[in-house]
Amino acid sequence: MESNGNIVSLEDSAKQIQYWCDHKFEPEIEKELWPKILQHKWFLSEKLGRDVGIKVACLDFIENVERMREDQHDEERIRLLKELDAQMVDRSVWDTISETQPPKQIVNKRIILPLTKADLARKHGVIPPRTIIFFGPPGTGKTYFVRAIAGVLQWWYVEVSPSTLMAEGENRMGANLKRLMEKVRNLDETVIFIDEFEEIATTRDHASRIDKSITNEFIKQVPLLEKQNRKILLVCATNYIRQVDAALLRPGRFDCIIPVGGLDNQGRQTIFEHYLSSTNRGEVDMERIISMMSLFTPADIEYLFQKVRQDAFEREYVKGEDYLVTTETFLEMIPKVAPTLTDEIVDEFEQDCTRYTRY
Ligand SMILES: Nc1ncnc2c1ncn2[C@@H]1O[C@H](COP(=O)(O)OP(=O)(O)O)[C@@H](O)[C@H]1O
Ligand SMILES: [Mg+2]
Repeated sequence: MESNGNIVSLEDSAKQIQYWCDHKFEPEIEKELWPKILQHKWFLSEKLGRDVGIKVACLDFIENVERMREDQHDEERIRLLKELDAQMVDRSVWDTISETQPPKQIVNKRIILPLTKADLARKHGVIPPRTIIFFGPPGTGKTYFVRAIAGVLQWWYVEVSPSTLMAEGENRMGANLKRLMEKVRNLDETVIFIDEFEEIATTRDHASRIDKSITNEFIKQVPLLEKQNRKILLVCATNYIRQVDAALLRPGRFDCIIPVGGLDNQGRQTIFEHYLSSTNRGEVDMERIISMMSLFTPADIEYLFQKVRQDAFEREYVKGEDYLVTTETFLEMIPKVAPTLTDEIVDEFEQDCTRYTRY
């Protein structure tokens, strides 16, 4: 039997439930249950990362129906997760990050472990952070890290861009942020990510009246989030920490301010190998090439591979014979990719680290 979406007649939903669950309810209840089962199917599929069949969803739903009734918020939460376009990120993303890539170790010790080893953390009075700022030059992996954290915790990942908050015009931003945070406080096991944080939380000296109202809203909302007894992590990322309102950076507002900086050789090699493994390659002298990429960010490495692969594709298209990417291909392409980091940017970043880092 096939389900035909949400709109089903009373008789239909009864038939469906009886068919799939071998369970008979009052017809009125059945009608109410069916859309919930369809929602549960979506929820389970997202959570497990695979498409769950209607039968599995139905059985799981019936099995847990009591628990679900008890939890009045469940349905509301599912609706909210859908509305916010929540995603489950694969656990393996975390493992693709080299142990030496900053700030993997800080994140592990300060965020992941206190959450996953809750008893030990409690014993030692370690409180897991709830509100975090990542800062660092563009392309250093801030977004990638946030996704990886959600993945390793197996929490929902919800991304909010400043443009969504500005959708109805800049003067609605404060109100939109307030509404969003009110909703978010009802979620559980969720990582909320606000990118380009400086766009919405500019220093008040330079901001217009409207921008100030959003900073003020943030100052109100962050402590409210801290008070919630739920597993929520708010992460904000910025390329320009100096532009973020100092009032928001004071101790007591965000729990951690963590720099996401450049890579060392090991970090570069891990990312290089990651992309090389899905490239049509021949002999590649990795050590030599990596030593030429000292100021490359993860984004630059990714772009280098995009160029190298495009080149390989075009060559094979023209010549009609298998083209293998080799050391030579990289030597030719590296000069065409300008690294994001410059000595000046690295200098500024180091100053920012001294001034803002706190965890
Ligand atoms: N450890 C990593 N392994 C593989 N790719 C990575 C890694 N870190 C970052 N990247 C890639 O580098 C690019 C830039 O990272 P991103 O997180 O968008 O940087 P930022 O948010 O700091 O600007 C992304 O396309 C991301 O997939
Ligand atoms: Mg980003």
